[in-house]
Amino acid sequence: MDAIRIYGGNCLTGQTKIQGSKNASLPVLAATLLINGTCEVENCPNISDVFHMLRLLESLGCKVTREEGLVRIDTGQLSACDMPADSVGVMRSSIMLLGALLARTGSVCMEYPGGCVIGKRPIDLHLRTLRRMGVEIVENEEGFCAHAASLAGVLHELPFVSVGVTENLILAAVLAKGITVIHPAAREPEIQVLCAFLQSAGARISGAGTDRLVIEGVDSLHPVRFHVPADRIVAGTYLAACMCTGGRVFLQDAPCQHMQSVLECARRMGTEIICQKDGVLVAGRGCAALEEGLITACYPGFPTDLQSLFMVVMALSGHSGWIEETVFENRFRIVPELCRMGADITVQGARAYIRPVNRLCGAIVEAKELRGGAALVAAALAAEGTSIVTDRHYIDRGYEDISLSFRELGADIELA
Ligand code: UD1
Repeated sequence: MDAIRIYGGNCLTGQTKIQGSKNASLPVLAATLLINGTCEVENCPNISDVFHMLRLLESLGCKVTREEGLVRIDTGQLSACDMPADSVGVMRSSIMLLGALLARTGSVCMEYPGGCVIGKRPIDLHLRTLRRMGVEIVENEEGFCAHAASLAGVLHELPFVSVGVTENLILAAVLAKGITVIHPAAREPEIQVLCAFLQSAGARISGAGTDRLVIEGVDSLHPVRFHVPADRIVAGTYLAACMCTGGRVFLQDAPCQHMQSVLECARRMGTEIICQKDGVLVAGRGCAALEEGLITACYPGFPTDLQSLFMVVMALSGHSGWIEETVFENRFRIVPELCRMGADITVQGARAYIRPVNRLCGAIVEAKELRGGAALVAAALAAEGTSIVTDRHYIDRGYEDISLSFRELGADIELA
C-alpha cells in the first residue's frame, strides 16, 4: 500500500546521515544537457523526483547509468527535444529543462509542468524572461513549443524573486551570446550549487549567492564530476521531528551554514543546537513560545519548505503562535489533517493561528504534498496511539526512505 503506519510516543535518539539535496541535484542534472559528453554527479538522492528527471533525460536521448548515489549522464547522442507528458506532469522541475534544451538544441515542446499542489505555481515569468532572450514561444491549452535560433544575453529586472526562474535563466545564459544580468536573483544555496557546477565546467558566472548574477556566455562547457551537498530541508525535517518528540539526534552532514534561520528558530523555541564540523546536534523538545511568530521568506529567511514541519512543532509546544506564509498561497493544506489529530489551528488568509493542545492523537491522515506529508509523519511520531499517513508517494518524491531513517532513530514506524 501507499502508506506509512506510525506508533507514536518514542523519543528520537541516535544519528542519521542526511541525503544529497533534491533541489540542488535537479537543476544540476538539467544542466548536464548543456555539456557534450559524460558528466558524473555524486550524492544524487535516490528519490522519485530524481528518478523522473533521469527518465526525462533518457527520453531525450541521454545515456544514464546509476550506481548508488553516483549518476553518469552521457549527453553525446541527444536526439529528441520533446518531453514525455507523464514525467513533465508530475514534476515542476521539468521546467528547468526548458532553458537548458533551448541552449543546446534551440527547440523544445512540452506540457505545462506539475509538482506539489501548493499554490497556482504559474510559469509566466519563465516564459516572459526567455522571450526577452530571443525565444519564440507558442502556447496552447496543454503546453507550449519554444524555438530560438540563438539566445542573447540581456539585463533581466525581475518583478519578484523566483528560484526556478533564476535557475532557468542561468541555464539559458551560460551559452548565450553576450552578458546576462539577473536581478533580483534568488540567493538560495541551491543556486550557488548550480553556479558552482557550471563554473567547474567552464561557465563564467559572478555574484552567486547575491541578488545580482552576471553571466558571460561562453562557446562551450566541458564534462565534470560534481558532488551534490546534503539537503538542508531534509536535515530540517529530522530536526523538527526531534523538536516534536524530544530526544537527541545527530544530523550527519547537515549544512549548518545554510540552515541559520531554521536553527535560530529552533533555539528560540528552547531546543539545544550545536553546529559541528560534520553535522548538527539537536537535543530536546521545542517547548518555548515563538513570541514574534514565524514568517516564511526567500533565503536567507525561513524556508517555506519547512513551514508545515514547524507548524507541528508549534502545535506541540504548549503555547499559542502564528505562521505567515509569504511564498506560496496554498501551503496550509496540512491544517485539516493536523486538526483531525487534535490540533487547534485556524487559517485566515496567509496566516495560520495555532493554539495549544495537551497532546495529538493518532489518526488516519492524508499526505497532500511532499513537505506536508513529512510533517504529518513528524506529528504522528509525537502523537498518542497509532497513525496512518496515506499517499506516501508524495513523501517519496523528496525522502529516500523516511520510515527507515526514523526507525534508525528509535521510532516505531513501518510501511503499510
Ligand atoms: C523552488 C523549490 C521549492 C521551494 C521554492 C521556494 C525546487 C525544485 N523547488 O520552487 O521547493 O519551495 O523554490 O523556495 O527547487 N511564480 C510565478 N511565476 C513564475 C514562477 C514562479 O508567479 O513563472 C511564483 C510562484 O507561484 C511562487 C513564487 O513565485 O509563489 C516563488 O516560486 P519559485 O521561487 O519559482 O519556486 P519554485 O522554483 O517553483
